[in-house]
Amino acid sequence: MTAKKHSALYRHIESLQGASAWGRMLDAGTGVNSLSWVSSLKTESWTAVTGSAQEADWVRDTLQASIRSQDNIIEGNWADPQLLKGEVYDTVLADYLLGAIEGFAPYFQSYLFSRLRPHVGGRLYVTGLEPYVPTMKPETEAGRLLWEIGRFRDACVLLCGQRPYREYPAQWVVDSLQRSGFAVRSVKHFSIGFKKRFVNAQIDLVMPGLETLEDRQLADTLKARGEALRREAFDMITSEGALRHCRNYVVVAEPL
Ligand SMILES: C[S@@+](CC[C@H](N)C(=O)[O-])C[C@H]1O[C@@H](n2cnc3c(N)ncnc32)[C@H](O)[C@@H]1O
Repeated sequence: MTAKKHSALYRHIESLQGASAWGRMLDAGTGVNSLSWVSSLKTESWTAVTGSAQEADWVRDTLQASIRSQDNIIEGNWADPQLLKGEVYDTVLADYLLGAIEGFAPYFQSYLFSRLRPHVGGRLYVTGLEPYVPTMKPETEAGRLLWEIGRFRDACVLLCGQRPYREYPAQWVVDSLQRSGFAVRSVKHFSIGFKKRFVNAQIDLVMPGLETLEDRQLADTLKARGEALRREAFDMITSEGALRHCRNYVVVAEPL
């Protein structure tokens, strides 16, 4: 078992895995969070895939001390039929991969689980976030604020010529897994309390892009809007402890 510092989702996955061996493991959408957890498990070996060369360098640099000779970090795209062709893993993790597909292979989401299916020898763990941006205005203050931060972030990302992430509900994941040759074994939701770190990450993400906008008046107005949202969120986090809204989930599936 790994240290408590890992998120509730990873701890839930550990409890579902129980005494079963992790074996050869695939982190199909890697990042520092998932790979620091995966590399702390007793695996035979792990392979980590990312669509971004920058992300590959970042995880390699951050986790270099935990990378063994049998482990691999690969930059590739699941839309490429050659990626990891013929490789089968005992345990596959798709950690916030589905939501990020829009940025790397738009419209590929419906094919993701059938694409991963031949690589899953034992079990697939899918984590994700219930969509909280393309909803009607939430009724709670925390919900409304997160919704506004998400809409601000995605609007800026689009204005700067990039593609925002697109999250999918757990029920969509279940339906897609069942159509892709998997039996769904369990679904569990977790409530989220967003802290200052999350708020900073969302607002800071768009700032470099805003510097490139030709319309400087628009850029300045958007920057001021971002700072106002940051202040409002910080005030609420100081008084309430967190912005409590939205849920993430773990879906567990096995090949039929
Ligand atoms: C939200 S990020 C990282 C989440 C990560 N598990 C963590 O530690 O928080 C999603 C990852 O999926 C990768 N990804 C998204 N679409 C992809 C695709 N079509 N092919 C390969 N990797 C992809 C991204 O490059 C990134 O590494």
